[in-house]
Amino acid sequence: MTAVRNDRTPRGGDRRERTAQRLLASSSANSYDPDLDIDWDAPVEDGLAFLPFERVSLYGTRLWDELTDQQRIELSRHELASIAGTGLWFEIILIQMLARYAYHRDPQSAHTQYALTEIGDETRHVIMFAKAIERMGVPTYRPPAFVHHLARLYKATARGTAVFAPVLVAEEITDRIQRETMRDESIHPLIRMVNRIHVVEEARHVRFARDEIARLMPRLGPVRTLVNNTAAAIVSAFVISVLMNPEVYRAVGLDPREAARVARANPHHRETRRWMAEKIMAFLDEQGMVTWSSRPIYRLVHLL
Ligand SMILES: [Fe+2]
Ligand SMILES: [Fe+2]
Repeated sequence: MTAVRNDRTPRGGDRRERTAQRLLASSSANSYDPDLDIDWDAPVEDGLAFLPFERVSLYGTRLWDELTDQQRIELSRHELASIAGTGLWFEIILIQMLARYAYHRDPQSAHTQYALTEIGDETRHVIMFAKAIERMGVPTYRPPAFVHHLARLYKATARGTAVFAPVLVAEEITDRIQRETMRDESIHPLIRMVNRIHVVEEARHVRFARDEIARLMPRLGPVRTLVNNTAAAIVSAFVISVLMNPEVYRAVGLDPREAARVARANPHHRETRRWMAEKIMAFLDEQGMVTWSSRPIYRLVHLL
């Protein structure tokens, strides 16, 4: 007999069902169709940035000082495209992991139905980011081939907190930037609208994943906790490390390797990473996911 977890039984918890019901109600009341809700034909004006300058990876360095204002805007365009390209790569990973998650669960439970709803949200986000990248006239920046292939192993095998913690890191670090820029009038209006849509829908995903971590952590034994905490930190480190594709620097005439080295050593950029990760790292710490095996990894990539 196939074991389908019946999440409506007390084992799954009423609290989890109530949260899922709230998230489902909010999804049907407040979701976007980027095809209709974004004016894709609006002209992409010149002279507006795509990221606040102080969030660009080279800000504060000598290389940055030597760029003209036009080049700074150009770099912000490519860096935003790299963030969007990496973001949509991770969203496709999440779609597969959520489908695997739902496979084992009772489709009648609100909890499973919310996981399926989130697949729908992420599908629209991937298309929205891809269209925005196309509209900005920049290439689709992707992670290096070995990370692309390593992620295949991850998305096929990860379970529980090792799924939800890196997902939260990816979602919450981009969310921090998007919240900052969605009301910033110096940022391109197309990008502000994309960010606004994403922020609204991601707030539900964050609630869902945070609740799962809080529910699962007390149930894990010491070995599983150690394995998942370490795996979550390694995957999160990969995500933040591939966020900025070095090829972005070529767009403003810089040597990609040299500029990437300057960005990695840039104290201002390190501070930006910690700022982006501030809320999610506090949560993971609170939940017992930042311990002796994972903390050094988060520190190494400046998420802590
Ligand atoms: Fe998303
Ligand atoms: Fe999401």
